[in-house]
Order: sequence, then structure tokens, then C-alpha cells
Amino acid sequence: MTNAPSKTVSNSNGHTVTVRVDLGERSYDILIGENLLDNAGAVITEILRQPRVIVITDSNVASLHLPALETSLSKAGIETHSIILPAGEQTKDFAHLAGLLDQCLDARIARDTTLIALGGGVIGDITGFAAAIALRGIDFIQIPTTLLAQVDSSVGGKTGINTKHGKNLVGAFHQPALVLADVATLDTLPEREIRAGYGEVVKYGLINDAPFFNWLEKNGPALCNGEHAARIQAVETCCRAKAAIVAADEHESGQRALLNLGHTFGHAFEAESGYSDKLLHGEAVAIGMVMAFSLSGKLGLCNDEETARIAAHLKAVNLPASLSGIAEPSWTPARLLSHMSQDKKVLAGQLTFILARRIGEAFISRDVKPETVQSLLEEALAA
Ligand code: NAD
Ligand code: GLY
Repeated sequence: MTNAPSKTVSNSNGHTVTVRVDLGERSYDILIGENLLDNAGAVITEILRQPRVIVITDSNVASLHLPALETSLSKAGIETHSIILPAGEQTKDFAHLAGLLDQCLDARIARDTTLIALGGGVIGDITGFAAAIALRGIDFIQIPTTLLAQVDSSVGGKTGINTKHGKNLVGAFHQPALVLADVATLDTLPEREIRAGYGEVVKYGLINDAPFFNWLEKNGPALCNGEHAARIQAVETCCRAKAAIVAADEHESGQRALLNLGHTFGHAFEAESGYSDKLLHGEAVAIGMVMAFSLSGKLGLCNDEETARIAAHLKAVNLPASLSGIAEPSWTPARLLSHMSQDKKVLAGQLTFILARRIGEAFISRDVKPETVQSLLEEALAA
């Protein structure tokens, strides 16, 4: 499957691209463009059951983008109630979910009320989960405002929260009714968050789209530096790829697991960093993808030059490509392996790894021996 950008030249002129996620009666559109927030009311009103929404956002996004959305909804005659949650990963927990549900019920939501998630993956995940369980399920709309959320978390219906046992361990599959990805909202995103989201962009090239990886080698720096046309093209390509995978395997019984390339390693690094600002999710995934290709090389599946090419590209956009300068002295292969064994992708006691034959040819493997992983981690920690 090739998802290389080919037909979005007019995007820089304000053109909006639509990607359909084909899931029968749960199908929905992803609209990608610039200035979508200002026109959100007119678009959203078309799909509402009642002209009434609850917007859920976080404290950072509220001051930057909530007024534009509220104005646009009001112009379209939509009654709006906004809820502002604290920014940060800590918000994705039971306490904030309970508080959010109470606030929604206090606002007298009904089965035909729609929730709108305005924010990054944290807001999208907790809002989606609240929508999945409030009144046994109501509609929700994603308006992702981080690059990570625009290319990954807002699409596909994985919703949930973290528990003391780990990330995203409680949740539900609940598809949004619409996704509005306005790349202009990314103009206010801190540069480090853009680069972390870019790690997930690179993932799509590595999984099944070598031409897209070639395109990123040329256009990645411009994308990271704020060029809207490059951002729209990349978000479209990633969303088309994700939409195809989700349509084929909504509940991750097969190929959807490919989207976890770099994540088994990445989650272990995030856990060892205490899910803190020391290592953002996309940064952990970037290192994890290099590790997944190194593992493939160690198993004789993939040429080491492919791994070096990926690492060079990540470094070119200031993403980490190794554990050097990241790992603390307390990190050990045993501790990292222990985090991996708590991953929800473990099946019948076997770790799941996404391996690759080359850039753009990834596959799922459940028969990698822990000793091989242990030795790779020893090398990575010693480097
Ligand atoms: P995030 O939601 O915490 O956003 C990162 C930071 O950017 C926050 O401080 C936020 O307030 C701020 N921010 C958001 N938009 C902004 C904007 N436009 N301008 C300025 N600041 C802005 O983090 P994230 O990286 O978007 O998402 C990470 C979360 O997504 C994790 O919880 C992860 O588990 C989840 N995730 C879910 C899926 C899925 O399929 N559901 C996939 C990948 C990741
Ligand atoms: N982010 C991985 C997935 O949606 O399956």
C-alpha cells in the first residue's frame, strides 16, 4: 500500500482535504486543512443530533483556541458548555474521568448531546472514553491540536485512561463522529511537542510506505519548522494510512498492531522515565523504532543500513535516535524487559514486536526470544 502524498498541491491555498474512515454505520470524515476552527460550527452543525455540545479542553489549549471554537459554534446557533481540565498526562486518570462525567451530567447531557474534544491526545482519549460510557454511549467529535493527535490519536476510536498499573489500561473502542484537524492550531504548539509528534509521522513511512519516508527525508525539516502545506500533506498521508488499517482491523486483532511499531520498546523507556517530561511519548517511540529495526537487523531480517538511515533522519529533525543521554544509570535490561512484559500487547505470555524487512515493510512477530531483546538492550544501554 502506498500513501505517498500526490494530489494535495492546492492545500497551501486553504483547500480542505477529506479522508473517510470506512466503518459501515460508524464511518466518519477526517477534515484536514487550515482555518478549520473558524468554520467548525458550520461543519459540525451538519452532523449534530441536537444543536448542543459540551467542549472539553485543557488549560493550555483553552486560552489559545477555545474562544475561536466557541465563537464559531455560537455563530452556527449551537448551544455550548465548556469544561477545562488541567493540562498533562496526569489528567488521564479515574479521578479526572469521574469529575468530567459529573460535570457533563451536571450540564444535563442527554443521549443526543455531543462531546467535543479540543486538544491533544490526553483530551481526546479521556473525552472519547467519557463519551463511550456516559449514558451508555454518546457522540463525540475530535478537534486535535497536537501533531501527534492529528496523525494518530484522534483517528481510530481508541479511548481510555491510565491506571497505577500502566498507560491506557482502561478504555473502550468508541469512534468519533467527525475529526477536524486544523494545522493552523499547531502554530502555537511548543517545538518539542511538534518534534515528538513527528516521531509518529515517521512511523507511517516505516510501516508500509517507503515513498512517504523518502518524502519526509526531503520535507520533514520544513514540516517541523511550521510549513502548513507540508503539514497538511503529512497529516493527510498519515490519516489515509491509519484509516485503511482501522477499516480493516478496528479492534486490533491483526494488522492494526503494525501501528505499534517502536511502541513496545518506547513504552518501556517511558515507564522507566516515570512518564515525565524527561522523555515524551513520540521521543520514546522514535528511539523505539530504531530499536525495532536494530532488532530486525540482529535477527538477520533487515540490513543495518536501513537502521542507520532512520537514525540519521530522526537526528536531522532533532529527535533522539538512541538511549545515549536519555537512559539513567538505574536503567537495566531486566527492568526494561519487565516493563515490556506488562504491556497490553503481551499475548499468551509472548511479547509482540513489530519488525521490518526494510523501510516500508514492517510485520508483526510474536516469537522473538527475550534473550535476543536482552542482549540488544545491553548493547543499547552500553553505547
Ligand atoms: P497532550 O495532549 O498532553 O498535549 C501535549 C501538550 O501540548 C500539553 O501540554 C497540551 O496542553 C499542549 N497543547 C496541545 N495543543 C496545543 C496547541 N495547539 N498549542 C499549544 N499547546 C498545546 O499530549 P499528546 O502528545 O497530544 O498526546 C499524548 C497522549 O495521547 C498520551 O496519553 C497517549 O497515550 C495518547 N495516545 C493515544 C492514541 C490513541 O490511539 N488513542 C495514540 C497515540 C497516543
Ligand atoms: N495508536 C495506535 C492505534 O491507534 O492503534
